Amino acid sequence: MPFYQRRGELPRKRHIVFRENGALLTEEVMGLEGFSGLESILYHLHSPCRIKELGPFTPIEREEWVPDTHAHRLQNTYDVAPEGDEISGRRTLMWNDDVEISLCRPASTMDYFFRNGEGDEVIFVHEGQGTLETTFGDLPYRAGDYVVIPRGTTYRFRPEGEQRYLVFETPGLIEIPRRYRNEYGQIVEGAPYYHRDIHPPTELRTYRERGEFLVKVRVRGGYQDYLLDYHPLDVVGWDGYLYPWTFSIHDFEPITGRIHQPPPSHQTFQGPNFVICSFCPRKLDFDPEAIPIPYHHSNLQSEEMIYYVSGNFGSRKGISVGSITLHPSGLPHGPQPGLAERSLGVAETTELAVMCDTFRPLRLSTFARELDDPSYAYSWYEPPAEEPSLAGATSHL
Ligand SMILES: [Fe+2]
Repeated sequence: MPFYQRRGELPRKRHIVFRENGALLTEEVMGLEGFSGLESILYHLHSPCRIKELGPFTPIEREEWVPDTHAHRLQNTYDVAPEGDEISGRRTLMWNDDVEISLCRPASTMDYFFRNGEGDEVIFVHEGQGTLETTFGDLPYRAGDYVVIPRGTTYRFRPEGEQRYLVFETPGLIEIPRRYRNEYGQIVEGAPYYHRDIHPPTELRTYRERGEFLVKVRVRGGYQDYLLDYHPLDVVGWDGYLYPWTFSIHDFEPITGRIHQPPPSHQTFQGPNFVICSFCPRKLDFDPEAIPIPYHHSNLQSEEMIYYVSGNFGSRKGISVGSITLHPSGLPHGPQPGLAERSLGVAETTELAVMCDTFRPLRLSTFARELDDPSYAYSWYEPPAEEPSLAGATSHL
């Protein structure tokens, strides 16, 4: 998506004869918006339509939790037991018609291939590393990476070590924010990252083996199984603008100011009716009169989900690595009592967090209910005699 790439062998022009050892290869145009949006052209050993057997269709069934009360919420996810694989282990925490947010801590590795046929994905790698094997080639990843996978990409994980992901799936497009790009698509000066920070697939591997290969495709609200008699990663070459890529949260260049910078300065991706932001270690506001932690704010039209990755919020009551806060629409939120006073003069933060703001309400799952800490709604109510602590002085409370 960010810029033109090519891998492997390609014919001189589009839509002309291209053979390998005398056999005509199959050209596939994989594109958006009906041949007028971004696209890539892939050359396959086999027709990508070829299936040996249609397997079952398994609908996605969600169990919704409708809380009795409307309040700020906290979920502690770090001790969730591993479950499933990199796909089946995605456990939805919250969702709406624009985005689904899941936690994934796989217990095993997928022994099949997966393709999301109805949405883009962003997988934030909290822990672990490995390689995503895709139709576009190998995509190495490591902790801190956002793995951005456009719909239509067939892939499987080859993980190394324990894995922990926060997964975003959207029926829309995951894009670099429009204001970061000029009219030609180049990332502009002043944006918090540049093309060099974006990592496309490295080596294209063409798998030629025959046998039985299972491909699960998410489509129409479920998973459809297809059995192939050839390896699905059979691409000998591709070029275009549509492919998976990684961007490390550690390469996000924080924007700081003399006084407090609002959350849009942390924006990393845009989706339909939601944004994904990165809160990274940085110097804090440097005006002598600045209050370095945020003002109270009312998210009148948005829900604010924050996933805490690492940093200086660890000793805050109830908040730890892997915690998720959800500040829903219609309510103000801000620092706990006393923290603004105590923050004066604080020069930097080591926080690392991922935020997703949605402009339409999020629904919660029963999995979220399992992790819910009902005391969080009262965390602004401190007994007057208690000495306030600076712990948790994140910039986005
Ligand atoms: Fe906020």
